[in-house]
Amino acid sequence: MKIGIVGAATVGMALATKFAAADHDVLIANSRGPQSLAAPLAEARTTAKAASVSEALACDVVFLAVPWLKVSEVLRPDMAWGGRILVDATNIFVSYAPNFRIDDLKGDSGSEVIARLAPSARVVKAFNTLPFKVIFAPTPAGLKRVLFVAGDDGEAVSTVSALIKGLGLHPVALGRLAEAGRQMELGGPVNLLELLTPASNPATDSND
Ligand SMILES: NC(=O)c1ccc[n+]([C@@H]2O[C@H](COP(=O)([O-])OP(=O)(O)OC[C@H]3O[C@@H](n4cnc5c(N)ncnc54)[C@H](OP(=O)(O)O)[C@@H]3O)[C@@H](O)[C@H]2O)c1
Repeated sequence: MKIGIVGAATVGMALATKFAAADHDVLIANSRGPQSLAAPLAEARTTAKAASVSEALACDVVFLAVPWLKVSEVLRPDMAWGGRILVDATNIFVSYAPNFRIDDLKGDSGSEVIARLAPSARVVKAFNTLPFKVIFAPTPAGLKRVLFVAGDDGEAVSTVSALIKGLGLHPVALGRLAEAGRQMELGGPVNLLELLTPASNPATDSND
């Protein structure tokens, strides 16, 4: 599958290297242009390729891994998504450590804002509920880490869940953006919730 990643810091680079290692065709972009990614990609010894933002945004599945305040720079209203999948990995921080501040969306949620910015995309929320150093940390033998997923389009949620499974994680689809997406957002009940599940579980493997 052709995967585009916009944002090339902790989240973008981790997703790029993991998906490339899982044999996907990965394009990754940042704000400073492809040449600025040559050294980090070489150092990561990955087959993921540096691209422009528009090239990454043209892929079948696009991961949004930029700061919340940059989202509207990336998602321009004239973009034709044609039902392609946009995975929202963002959290609604307006500033990071040491002065973490969360945007006041006045009852709205980040993924619903993103879905309105990309109305012809199928938006799926994933990869935002845990720090990346936790998501990909080793697990005890026989256990997999759970990764929550939300979205309004069942097929898009299944596609992203399959991608997550391919990285050795255990996807759990919680529901639609308006309910489950909010539960996954900063301050929501499953944000920062870390769960491990048996790697082989007859009760859930039958749904594969
Ligand atoms: N870090 C985590 O563990 C973690 C976990 C879950 C969710 N998240 C969320 O995931 C998102 C990414 O987090 P992060 O920690 O990887 O880093 P970040 O500091 O939030 O994002 C920096 C990356 O975004 C790029 N960027 C900024 N504006 C851009 C634009 N207009 N077009 C293209 N790229 C742009 C930057 O490129 P340049 O350097 O070239 O400007 C850089 O590669 C955030 O929303 C964060 O809240 C983070």
